[in-house]
Parts: sequence; structure tokens; C-alpha cells
Amino acid sequence: MNIRDTEIIAQTLAESGYIESPSIEKAHLVVLNTCSIRAKAEQKVFSLLGSLRKAKKRNPALKICVAGCVAQQEGQKIIKRMPHVDLVIGTQHIYNLPTLLRQSSKHSNIAINLSDTYEIPRFVPRLSTADAQAGSPAPPLDMQFSRFVTIMQGCNNFCTYCVVPYTRGREVSRNVKDIIEEIRKSVDSGVCEITLLGQNVNSYGQSNSVMTNGLPCSFSMLLRQVAQVDGLKRLRFTTSHPKDLSDELISCFAEIDNLCPQFHLPVQSGSDAVLRRMNRKYTTTDYRRKVEKLLNARQDLALTTDIIVGFPGETEQDFQQTIDLLEDIRYHGSFSFKYSDRPGIKASHLDGKIEEHVKGERLQIFQKRQDEISLERNKEYIGKSLLILVESVNYNKLAGRTATNHIVHAGLSPSQVIRPGEFVNVLITSAGNHSLKADLLP
Ligand code: 5AD
Ligand code: SF4
Repeated sequence: MNIRDTEIIAQTLAESGYIESPSIEKAHLVVLNTCSIRAKAEQKVFSLLGSLRKAKKRNPALKICVAGCVAQQEGQKIIKRMPHVDLVIGTQHIYNLPTLLRQSSKHSNIAINLSDTYEIPRFVPRLSTADAQAGSPAPPLDMQFSRFVTIMQGCNNFCTYCVVPYTRGREVSRNVKDIIEEIRKSVDSGVCEITLLGQNVNSYGQSNSVMTNGLPCSFSMLLRQVAQVDGLKRLRFTTSHPKDLSDELISCFAEIDNLCPQFHLPVQSGSDAVLRRMNRKYTTTDYRRKVEKLLNARQDLALTTDIIVGFPGETEQDFQQTIDLLEDIRYHGSFSFKYSDRPGIKASHLDGKIEEHVKGERLQIFQKRQDEISLERNKEYIGKSLLILVESVNYNKLAGRTATNHIVHAGLSPSQVIRPGEFVNVLITSAGNHSLKADLLP
């Protein structure tokens, strides 16, 4: 979501005349787009702002803007702590950045109001010169073939460990017409893969009653419409909340050809007691049942998840249940984190905080086992012929992605001319924890 927001910031600035600078030293404006999901991400912002103080001393005309979740959360406190910051903008203000910059020319400024009736503006992707040439026989090497498209923002779920409902506000879905227009423009300019983005895409359309063809539009209805955009080869989405994963969406995996067999379904913990305290609103039994249905709909689905270890009150037995779930589901991969106390979240008031070293030990145990399982999972692809979308070509090597979102590396002979954006067939020859190796097939 932050990567996409940063692209939007870059585009709105370019449209008002800014040119991307090759270095901070030469820049007149630095925008930090920030994340506050865990304490570490926030610490990085303040340490970078500290070093920007020196850059501003050398160049007093330099403007510094802090955007994103830390900006939303800390607001005025950022300027108090870092008076060299010129502008602080919250998560719903990225589209207005050029105007806010003009207004902030004389004194420090903050714009962090969050509105429940916020509408995601219409946004048409600007064709870069690279994209505009995509139809030509040899598209440039920096052309983007895969893009993110925001379909909703904010969250109404209030998981007790999470700052997102406070930093991004209530759930707001974008209208279908604007989404399709953005995707169509991207595909017309050569993009072949789209990832739909939202904090909880499964509840798309519900909070602000999005309509399509006179009917309330669910996420699966949107997915079916997007899949039909002419020329779109691959469609993905992230992130899903297990409680809102409908049978209707599961059947999309059996029925939509260009929907990739990949699913990120964050479980967070394998213990029902912990899930209850996290306010996740599902049990491990509900979760396992949904995974079973997904795998029935699409056997080759690659499943990934998010895990938090060391949530307040997590016992050894609770943690063991998370390992048991990993053993049963055998995720292709996962993102796992130590629980991090954040300002304003409910979990920060819970008893039974777990010591850092215990969290660290649990994380290590989980990640070690996940790595072994990922390797075993990846080995299942050896000997298979798969279609990959080439992302980069360097000398005699190429890297691409399978439909299941696995990275594949393959060698190239000097006579083979392959460009990013092409689909090629490969034969998988070996597997690592995080990627596959392959030979090109004729
Ligand atoms: N501490 C640790 N991990 C967290 N996440 C969200 N909030 C926290 C927190 N306070 C993780 C969850 C979520 C992912 C994006 O970040 O696993 O799914
Ligand atoms: Fe955070 Fe839960 Fe919303 Fe995901 S669903 S953004 S974890 S509150």
C-alpha cells in the first residue's frame, strides 16, 4: 500500500512540474512516506529525519515533508521534535500534496484530518515515456509490466494489535468505474499484471455500498469485472481477512483463468485464545475449513500468511499451536513478526507482556521451520514446466515470476534475446528457500 501511495505522490508531483532528483544532496524537496505498523519502522523515520537536519543546514531551501502513517499518528509532535520538517501530511492527503506544499511555503504546516466520508479520488496513471513505447517491438528496460491498483483504503476491524484503523481511518472503497479505468489505461500501456490493493479486500464495497450495474458490488463481482479487461494476463490481490473470505470469492479461483493461484491469508496465530484477544473474529477451525475449500477450488494454490509471535499472554502452548498450524497447512511462505507495542492500540493495555528475548526465541523457531517447509514446498516444483513473466534481464541471466508468485532465475545464452515483460516457459531444475532455478524451454 505504501509503495503504491509513493507512486501516486511521485505522479502528482511530476504533474505539477517536479523532476525526480538523483540524490538527496541535489533535491529541493524530500518526501518521506512512512509506516508505523511496528516500532522499528517508526524508529527508521526519526533516524532518517535526524540525518536530513544536516542536509537542510547545507541547503536551507530544502523542503522536508513527512507523509503516511507516522505522520498521521504523530502529527504536530513531529514538528516539535524535528523543527526542520516543513510539512506533515496524513494518509488521506497524498493526492493534495502539491497544493499543500504551496500553502506551506511560509511556515510549517500539518494536514492530518481523517474523514469517514473520504472518497478515494479518480486517478489515471500517467504514461511514462517508457510505458508509452511498450507497444513497440522493443520496450525499454525500465518499463513496468506489473502494477498495484488501490481499490480501498482504511479498515474497520480493529484487531487489538494494529494501528491501521487509527492511521488510515475507516474503510472506504473506490468506485468500480475509476478502478476499471485505471486498470484499462495501465494495460493499454503494456502492463500485463495487476495486483488489487486494500487492507481488507474481502469486504470491498460493503462500507460505502459500491454499486455496479444497479447491484451492490462485492469483491468477487469486482474481481470478475477486472479479469475481463482486455489484455490483462495476470490478476492478484492482497490482503484478505479470513472472516470475510466468502464462498463466492473461493469459487473465483476455480472459474477465473487469469486470477493467479496465489493467496495471502494472514492467520496471525494458531491459538484460539490468542485470536480471541486479537479480536480476529474467527477460530482456527474456521480458518482451516476455508483453506480446505480454497485448495479444493484450486489445487495448485500457493498459500502465504502473516504471523505475530509473543502477543500479550501468549503461552508456550499457544505458540506450539501456531507451529502445529504451520505443520498442517505447510504455507509456501510467511511474514512473521514479534508483537510490537504501538501507541493507542488495545493490546498495549493487556496484561502478560512477553519478554523480548522470549519473543525473539519464538520468532527464530517459527522462521527456521517455515524456511524448511518453504524449501520442501519449492522442491515440489522441480521437473515442472512453468510460465514466468520476465521481470529483469542482466547479461546472461533473467529473473521472472510464476503465477504462484515464486521468483525464478534462469540462465541465457548469448544468442537468446528476451526482454522484461515477456512470458517464457521454463523447466524448474532446483529450489532454494526463497526462489527457484530453471532452464528456458524452447
Ligand atoms: N506488532 C507486530 N506485528 C504487527 N502486525 C500488525 N501490527 C503489528 C504489531 N503491533 C503485522 C500483522 C499484519 C502485518 C501487516 O503486520 O501480522 O498482518
Ligand atoms: Fe490491521 Fe486487522 Fe485491519 Fe488488517 S484487518 S489492517 S490487521 S486492523
